[in-house]
This record gives sequence, C-alpha cells and structure tokens, in this order.
Amino acid sequence: MSGEFAGKAALVTGAASGIGLAVARRLGEAGASVVVADFDEDGAQVAAGELEAAGTRAEPLVVDVTDPDSMREAVRFTTHTFGSLDLAVNNAGVSGPSMPTGEFEVTAWDRVIATNLSGVFYGLRHQLPVMAAAGGGAVVNMSSILGTNGFAGSPAYVAAKHGVVGLTKTAALEYADKGVRVNAVGPGFIDTPLLRGTDSPMRERLVSLHPQGRLGTAEEVAEVTAFLLSDRASFVQGSYHLVDGGYAAR
Ligand SMILES: NC(=O)c1ccc[n+]([C@@H]2O[C@H](COP(=O)([O-])OP(=O)(O)OC[C@H]3O[C@@H](n4cnc5c(N)ncnc54)[C@H](O)[C@@H]3O)[C@@H](O)[C@H]2O)c1
Repeated sequence: MSGEFAGKAALVTGAASGIGLAVARRLGEAGASVVVADFDEDGAQVAAGELEAAGTRAEPLVVDVTDPDSMREAVRFTTHTFGSLDLAVNNAGVSGPSMPTGEFEVTAWDRVIATNLSGVFYGLRHQLPVMAAAGGGAVVNMSSILGTNGFAGSPAYVAAKHGVVGLTKTAALEYADKGVRVNAVGPGFIDTPLLRGTDSPMRERLVSLHPQGRLGTAEEVAEVTAFLLSDRASFVQGSYHLVDGGYAAR
C-alpha cells in the first residue's frame, strides 16, 4: 500500500463510529494498517470489513477502554498482528447525561470519567513504552472544545476533556526525547451518533455556537488528526488543536 502511512500500524479506539471511523478510514487511505478497536463488536467488524473492501489491512478488536487490561491487550494485539505500533488514536468517548453539577449522578460521573479520561490514560500507559522502545511513534488524544471551555450541564465531560489536554501535555514532555509525539485534538460539535440524543432546539443552539453556522464533520476532525500523526507535524509536540468552526475564537 502506498501513501504517507505505508508500513505503519495504527490503533484507533472508538473506531466503529463517528470520528474514530473517519480517522480509521483516513489512515487506511494513506496506507496504514488499522486495528479497529471498539466496545461495539458488530460495529467494529462492519467498519473493519469496509476498510478491507477499500484496500486497507484492517482488524476488528473488541476493547473496553475503561479496563486497563483490555488496553494492554489492544497494544499487544496490534504489535502481534501488524509487527509494530506506530500510530495511536485514543478517541473512544461517551457524552453522559445533561444535568447541573449539583444534581449530577455520581454513577454517571464515574462512567464518563472512566471512559473519557481514564480510558485515554490506560491507552497511553500501554502505548508509550512500546513506542519508546521501538524508537518513536505518534499519538493523538481526542479531547474537545470542552477541553478548554466550560459547558453548563456537562461537568463530567468537561472535566474529563480538560484532563485529556493536561495528560497530553505531560506525556508529550516525558516522551519527546524518545521520538514519541503526543498531541490532542479539540473538535467543536460534530455531526456524529454521539449527538443522537440531541433534540432539534438543542441542535439549533449548538449550531449557533459555531461562527461558521454549522456542525463539523467527522472527516474534518480526521484530517487534522492525520496531519498530527504524520511526519508533516514533526515539530508539533504536546499541543491541542481546535477543529471548531470558530467556536473558541469568540
Ligand atoms: N461528536 C462531537 O460533537 C464531539 C465533539 C468533541 C469531541 N468529541 C469526542 O470525539 C470522540 C468520538 O466521538 P464521536 O462523536 O465519534 O462519538 P460516537 O458515539 O459516534 O463514537 C464513539 C465510539 O466509542 C465507542 N466507545 C464508547 N465507550 C467505549 C469503551 N468503553 N470502550 C471502547 N469503545 C467505546 C462507541 O462504541 C462508539 O463506537 C469522543 O471522545 C468524543 O468525546 C466528539
């Protein structure tokens, strides 16, 4: 396979749907072999089948990012199947309920933090040593515009996404001299199944928050993610890249 990621092996979590699927497609189109890792077994199989049909070497894998053993196994599976782990995208996430902090269910807090923050840590925990031992690699963690801005009704999501930005900077400092680049992407509101529970007035409100007057697409987020993973971003380290139609520029 030709392309700028030819010969590279990628592990993408949450790759059965939305942004993760668009990233998996984008990396595959540029020549990477891709482990399509997701909680959703059927979705991972369908996505990997679609990538294979398009000429990408792809393997589905059931993972639960809230389980450190599952993330260790995902890294082992990638190196065993494709011979290396060059690119990792810690993308799996959940939205959680909309409720003010003073009423937010503790169980919902725990689930959102476990998935959106601890899940990224468990990924890094097992990806970074393997990449460092191999002499290098690149990681993108999926944060959000809510990695720097608050959002009423989403305390756990906002806290987790802010945490992802801090974790990204810290890991980037620790592994810079080992050839591993770690960066984060901050999408605005993107039209994916994550927003499926959003009613029409709320959707209009979300659109109005973006000066471009629309939601983003998963492909627009995948494009920036692919750039950060590529050698074109060779001096980009520990940074947080917005893909938000101007949301944060206000
Ligand atoms: N859609 C948006 O507006 C938006 C905005 C900013 C950031 N994000 C972030 O982008 C990432 C992807 O979101 P999306 O919009 O593509 O959502 P999505 O719901 O379309 O996809 C998320 C995927 O993650 C998987 N997943 C959830 N929990 C998991 C777990 N414990 N283990 C493994 N897989 C799990 C789901 O099965 C699903 O396939 C998330 O981290 C999300 O917070 C999304």
